[in-house]
Order: sequence, then C-alpha cells, then structure tokens
Amino acid sequence: MSKILILPGDGIGIEIVAQAVKVIDSLNRNHAMEMTLVNGLLGGAAYDETGSPFPDETIRIAKECDSILLGAVGGPKWESLERSLRPERGLLGIRSELELFSNLRPAILYPQLASASSLKNEIVSGLDLMIVRELVGGIYFGEPRGVEIKNGERFGVNSATYYESEIARIGHSAFQIAQKRNGRVCSVDKANVLEVSELWRDVMEEVSKEYSDVKLSHLYVDNAAMQLVRDPKQFDVMVTSNLFGDVLSDCAAMLTGSIGMLPSASLDKNNFGMYEPIHGSAPDIAGKDIANPLATILSVSMMLRYSLNQAELAEKIDSAVSDVLDQGYRTKDIAGDSQKVVGTEEMGDLVVKALES
Ligand code: IPM
Ligand code: MG
Repeated sequence: MSKILILPGDGIGIEIVAQAVKVIDSLNRNHAMEMTLVNGLLGGAAYDETGSPFPDETIRIAKECDSILLGAVGGPKWESLERSLRPERGLLGIRSELELFSNLRPAILYPQLASASSLKNEIVSGLDLMIVRELVGGIYFGEPRGVEIKNGERFGVNSATYYESEIARIGHSAFQIAQKRNGRVCSVDKANVLEVSELWRDVMEEVSKEYSDVKLSHLYVDNAAMQLVRDPKQFDVMVTSNLFGDVLSDCAAMLTGSIGMLPSASLDKNNFGMYEPIHGSAPDIAGKDIANPLATILSVSMMLRYSLNQAELAEKIDSAVSDVLDQGYRTKDIAGDSQKVVGTEEMGDLVVKALES
C-alpha cells in the first residue's frame, strides 16, 4: 500500500491532476494497487485558504506519504504579493524542506508528434535526453541575498554557492541514471568564469572515478545551449546546477515541441519524490477543458518507476499514452491539421480506456 499526497495547486493544475487521479484509480481497480490519495494545499490555493503558500500542514502530511503528485503553482492573481507569500515560495519551500535535490527532466520526442517541434525532423527525431538538475542549492538558495542600499543607491545580490557534498550527490544521481541509459554524462558549468563552477567541474571528475562504465564530458553553459538546438541527440544525460538547469530544461522541453507532454521527478536521497509536469499553471487557459493532461499522467508513470518500484505499470501508462496518440487524439496544444482534437477530460478518459483495453 502506498500513500500519495495530491497537490493540484493553481490554474490548470486542478483539471490535469484530476485526469492523473483517474489513471491512479484505474490502476487501483485493475492491478491490485493500493494507492491511497490524500489532498493537500500548495501555492496560491494554499495562500487563499491559509494565508501561506506553503502551510506547515502540507509538509506534515508530505512526510507521512510515500510520494507526491503536484499539478502546478502560480498565477497573476498572486503576483503582487510580497515575495515570501507568492506561490513559487511554496514550490521552492517544499523542494528544500524535503531535500528533493535531484530533479529529473526528460526531453523525449514522441514519434507521433515530430511535426510539433520547431526544429527539423532529422535533428529531433528519436530525441531522448535526460536533464538532471540540482534543485535545492546554488543561486536559488545561496546567502547573502537581497536588495539593500549601498553607496546611496539600490544594490541587489544573490550568491551562487555549492558545498562539494551537494555537487557530489547530484553527480552520483546523474552517473547512476546514465548507467541505466547510454552511459554518457555531460556536465554543464561556467568554469571559465565562475569559481563555484570550477569546483563543480573538479567534483564531477572525482565522482566519475567511481563509474568507469560512464563517460563524462563537460560543456560551458553558453555552448550547451547552442548544442541543444544544433544537435540535441548528441546528449544522453546532462547534469547541471539549479539555475542553468532551469534555463536549459525549458529549452530542451521545447525541442520536443510539446511541453505539455513532459513529466518530471524531484527526488531525495532515498528516492522519495515529488512528481509534476514540466509546464506551468497556464492561468490563461485554466478551467476551459483544453489543457493537456498527458504530462501529469506521465508523471504518475515516473512515480511508479522511480519511487514505487512498479516499472511494469509505468510501462503500461506509457504505452496507453502512446496508443491514444496513435489513434490520432490530441489536445489543442499538440494538434496538427488532421487530428481529432479533444479536451482535458476526454483525453484523461481515453488514456484510462487504453489502459484498460
Ligand atoms: C521550474 C520553475 C520554477 C523554478 C519556478 C516556478 C520557481 O521555473 O520548476 O522550472 O525556477 O525552479
Ligand atoms: Mg523553470
């Protein structure tokens, strides 16, 4: 039996998570899975109800659960709040509080969706890249930070900081993932300018000595961005710091032309994890039954694979999604000319049907 904390969050989070819950219910019914769901609050929804984007209650429940499924947080409604009350603080807070340091962001091109990419087919067809992003350190959390008055004018500061142990543990994650894939890790830094990156590179080299079956290479982040759009298939696993990973993972996601398809995992050292779609809360389309629920459904698949030890069921979800695409069904964001456009709810139902057929 596993207990899963469901955090729908804001915007389209609510409707896409509802589709993932249908998939979980189906697995419970048909595969003797006993996944118990508990609902919780995070982000703007949490602020509206409790006055905090990251209520203590949420963290208390999270610690009792085996896994977390998150929709998305944020929206214009909360943008004018002071920083500590904004929905994003909830997301950063839960990552940090639960030490979810290893963020896996796959960029996979579904053959059925090749034409959705803005890049030429031959550059992206067959793309299967894993970005491993450090998620609880670096400039996102480093001290000192803030805006102050210095020499009579405003002065802003953030600090890119890493202990070697923080670099080593994300290095181990990346190398272990590469062992199960094609055995190549590319570490991305800015070691030609930043001391913290020099340390990053040294530690990656040291960690790599424990993985003789994995080949390590290095790129500066500017070059990595260029290589991602020039020839993304050269990469297997890319490991990088929090900020660089934030930027590069959006770029990689867009290579597939369908950010609405990509799940992610954020794991701690015991593979406890929070699973969420890579895309955001898309407030402009919330409540219209047009959002793509597939990234959230595929997040359930990642959860089964990485935290719940149910690789076979994960496989079943992946095939069900693929079947639905084969049948020509698309949500609006990934629809070409001759496709059958369906809404959020119907897409959820189609995946359940494919899963049960
Ligand atoms: C992401 C998002 C977050 C981040 C924001 C919403 C705080 O962009 O998960 O990539 O910067 O990490
Ligand atoms: Mg981002």
